[in-house]
Amino acid sequence: MENLRHFRSSMTFGFYLLMSFCFTGQALALSDGDKVAIGTEVTIIYRAARGVVAKSQRLINDASKGDKGLSADVVIAKMKENYKKETGNNFKMADSESLKGQAQTALLDSISSVMNHAQALINEKGKGLKGFLPAIFAKQMGDGFNKNMEGKAYIKLTAPKNYVRNRANRPDKWEANVVETKFKDTGYEKNKVFTENAKHKGKDAFRLILPEYYKEACLNCHGDPKGTKDITGGKKEGGKLGELGGAISFVIYD
Ligand code: HEC
Repeated sequence: MENLRHFRSSMTFGFYLLMSFCFTGQALALSDGDKVAIGTEVTIIYRAARGVVAKSQRLINDASKGDKGLSADVVIAKMKENYKKETGNNFKMADSESLKGQAQTALLDSISSVMNHAQALINEKGKGLKGFLPAIFAKQMGDGFNKNMEGKAYIKLTAPKNYVRNRANRPDKWEANVVETKFKDTGYEKNKVFTENAKHKGKDAFRLILPEYYKEACLNCHGDPKGTKDITGGKKEGGKLGELGGAISFVIYD
């Protein structure tokens, strides 16, 4: 009897050990499909938030107005509207233990912190052009995300090598190669993400990159005549409507 009870309890213990091993194992071993889903979610939020800042440029640069009403909460609420337009679904936080949930939190926290820091700049009355551009916001949002993710994931806005203005946005070798050999290939399907298991900053990783194209509004600054100054004082690239103008690069480390 005593033996049997002992046998049972050690079976139970063994069973729990096995199950917890399975669950931890599962949590660590994300499939490529899971990683694509996480990358898709993060890049959709990233673009949805940048879209809010893009659409608010006139408001942000309105010298006659003080408070622009563009708080962190407002930007996040509008981001969620854009998210719904893009996906057809309401934005929903995933389980906070999952990498998806952690990435969502990291990005939302970064958006809040960037917007909180930007309040003084964007609410300054009497100042027109503020330089709080979509690409600048995107850079800051990405930097915050990367910091918050503590080496688990990474995001960056980049561009074709010859179009990069801010050196911090230059493509790495892998990104430049995908841009030149895939995205610029005439047969490459528009808007299609490219994914690959490849190194990033020397570490094994899952990499995803999404092409972006110049729209009419971009050409005021990135279009013709090439070399002339845009309103920010930067040099226009001579980019054409529909041409590849940038890429969002996302990484999950193994
Ligand atoms: C008001 C001018 C202006 C408009 C409009 C504009 N950009 Fe930019 N863009 C800039 C500036 C200035 C930078 C450099 C930002 C920096 O210094 O970090 C930049 C940076 C970028 C970058 C990052 C790579 C780099 O060069 O550092 C991408 C990608 C980009 N723009 C794409 C676009 C796209 C796509 C659109 C339209 C949806 C657009 N931009 C609209 C001025 C503009």
